[in-house]
Amino acid sequence: MPFATVVILAAGRGTRMRSATPKLAHDLCGRPLLGWPIAAAREAGALRTVVVVGSDGPPVDPLGEGVELAVQERPLGTADAVAAAAPLIAREGVVVVLAGDVPLIEPAMLHELVGAHEGAGAAATVLTTVLEDPRGYGRIVRDARGEVARIVETKVAGDATGEELAIREVNTSIYAFDGGALLDALPEVGSANEQGERYLTDVIAILRSRGAAVAAHPVEDPAVVLGVNDRVALAAVRAEAQRRIQERHMLAGVTIVQPASTSIDVDVVIGEDTVIEPCTQLRGATRIGARSTIGPHATVIDARIGDGVSVVHSHLVSCELREGATVGPFAYLRPDALLRERAKVGTFVEVKNADIGEGAKVPHLSYVGDAQIGERTNLGAGTITANYDGVAKHRTTIGARVHGGVHTSFVAPVSVGDDAWTAAGSVVTADVPEGALAVARARQRNVERYAERRRVVDPRSAP
Ligand code: UD1
Ligand code: CA
Repeated sequence: MPFATVVILAAGRGTRMRSATPKLAHDLCGRPLLGWPIAAAREAGALRTVVVVGSDGPPVDPLGEGVELAVQERPLGTADAVAAAAPLIAREGVVVVLAGDVPLIEPAMLHELVGAHEGAGAAATVLTTVLEDPRGYGRIVRDARGEVARIVETKVAGDATGEELAIREVNTSIYAFDGGALLDALPEVGSANEQGERYLTDVIAILRSRGAAVAAHPVEDPAVVLGVNDRVALAAVRAEAQRRIQERHMLAGVTIVQPASTSIDVDVVIGEDTVIEPCTQLRGATRIGARSTIGPHATVIDARIGDGVSVVHSHLVSCELREGATVGPFAYLRPDALLRERAKVGTFVEVKNADIGEGAKVPHLSYVGDAQIGERTNLGAGTITANYDGVAKHRTTIGARVHGGVHTSFVAPVSVGDDAWTAAGSVVTADVPEGALAVARARQRNVERYAERRRVVDPRSAP
């Protein structure tokens, strides 16, 4: 289906966020606000996508492939913003205008809008919706015949009459225009108003006064067209985005036990029959296979997780877990931790930049960093790789089927051969040959009658 040029308005201040970060750079489920309408335009198959930015450049970088920029030197209102894109707008063909701060618009809805616009033969078609509480939005004023007469803004007292304020049909800031009609009407939007702005909404009355047809295309579900002006609205939009993301996964075969306490970023991939337990966050580019159980209480950021993996009460960042691996409770997997098939990282264990072999186990209270652990090796409770000498990091290499005693410290660089053992409490500073037992601790010495002798020296220790 041929589709329109899309112009996304993304300049202006967004001061009501009260933030050092530009409004459209704020995160919404793993993607900046501005990334949402850009993705919708791309998925809808836009002929070209133009983003209007301020003189300080795009609020987020990069904007994505094929996106063109237009610069609005000063934020003089939405009509002025569209005018900044005028050189990139063709007279023939449809122009869809999107607001950068209305993120949940869907590609199908853009197709419906353009379909309705072309069907009505209109010069402009406004996407509208009916809100329970229309405060903050421009209202759709219809004439006696029920046609759109104009859009009235409500930013300052006196903009709208009481009767107009009672209108609950609002402008979503999403429009389809005939390119030529839009280009001709823009210069007629008067000079800046009291707010120092030229409003795109005024184009509607201008087109009507020229006898052009203006249509409205109402959407049933107001949630998809909510705008973000402050952080209260951002939270409302996030709740709706979460609902949609989770619904998509559930319909694709993922069990989400408690949606309200679960949060899943937009680009996360999850396989069939995986169960997401309560209080779990899946972030960024995380990919999870089938039949895994994640949570309760797991935070997973940019991780690759295979099939049949279990992660309980743990924090994972940029790591890889292969089929059948188990993690937690209370583990911390840091960047470049790799758990091969059926490897186990248990309770109070931290792993960083380490390759844990097939079926290998680090079950309790350990730190494994900059290490290679062979298959089916078992490291005892309290194993520590001393990888840092205060200047540089060094590697620990441990072979297959090694039995590490509890409280073994491996002082890197050091390597341990296959099938070797370490005695409990060893501080291993030299390489251990294959099959050997390393005993690297002081021999025990018992001081006889110590308690009695102590009482003579210090009467206060008497029982
Ligand atoms: C706008 C509409 C209002 C509609 C609402 C829906 C106007 C005058 N009002 O109001 O009818 O109900 O959206 O959410 O259009 N922008 C620029 N340059 C500027 C000013 C704004 O690029 O000079 C961009 C902003 O980045 C933003 C979008 O345009 O993404 C909308 O501007 P905003 O100031 O948020 O308009 P609203 O007051 O929300
Ligand atoms: Ca807005």
